[in-house]
Amino acid sequence: MKVLLNETDLHAGVSRLASQIDDHYQGQPLTVVAVMTGSVVLFADLIRMLSLPLRVGVIQASSYRGQAKAGELSVDTQMLLDVRNRDVLLVDDIFDTGRTVAKLMEVIAVQGARSVASAVLLRKCRAHDVALRPDFTAFEIPDEFVVGYGLDYRDQYRNLPFLAVLEPHEIDANTDGVPANGAIYPKP
Ligand code: IMP
Ligand code: MG
Repeated sequence: MKVLLNETDLHAGVSRLASQIDDHYQGQPLTVVAVMTGSVVLFADLIRMLSLPLRVGVIQASSYRGQAKAGELSVDTQMLLDVRNRDVLLVDDIFDTGRTVAKLMEVIAVQGARSVASAVLLRKCRAHDVALRPDFTAFEIPDEFVVGYGLDYRDQYRNLPFLAVLEPHEIDANTDGVPANGAIYPKP
């Protein structure tokens, strides 16, 4: 595992993101919606840095990538708060193909939001599947598989306080999400 962004880098990036969001909304009330589960760590840090009157909610999306229904997304809005006539900011961990953010913004718009924007911690430098781009991005990263700071590999590593790139052998060597060398909590 190779550290890509350490705790100091992440704090600086989220702080920049918060400033951009504050500048954009100029004190207007905002409804921020976390995409479960990958954005939990970012969300907790980000909302405490924003100086806007906030309502917070969550939405759940799961993709079936790599399975029979490749590319299909299941969305659960049961925990979404009322967004009618609200300015909404969707917060997700990473913009990869872009399908998750694009789909969820559409779902929130359909629920009657006045405006819908998106903020992500990471955008992968690759060709995305959608024309849309995130409105606010903290970091652009190479097209590699990353974990930590909320991001998982098979539900592991979300609690790492830094962002790391998984080496190919850590991805392929096993089926239970634990790397062959057992190094789940490496020192940065
Ligand atoms: P999308 O391809 O932009 O729709 O991203 C879908 C989801 O895939 C993200 O919300 C993440 O949960 C997950 N994902 C994409 N790239 C990575 C990665 O490098 N590490 C961990 N999760 C990822
Ligand atoms: Mg994930």
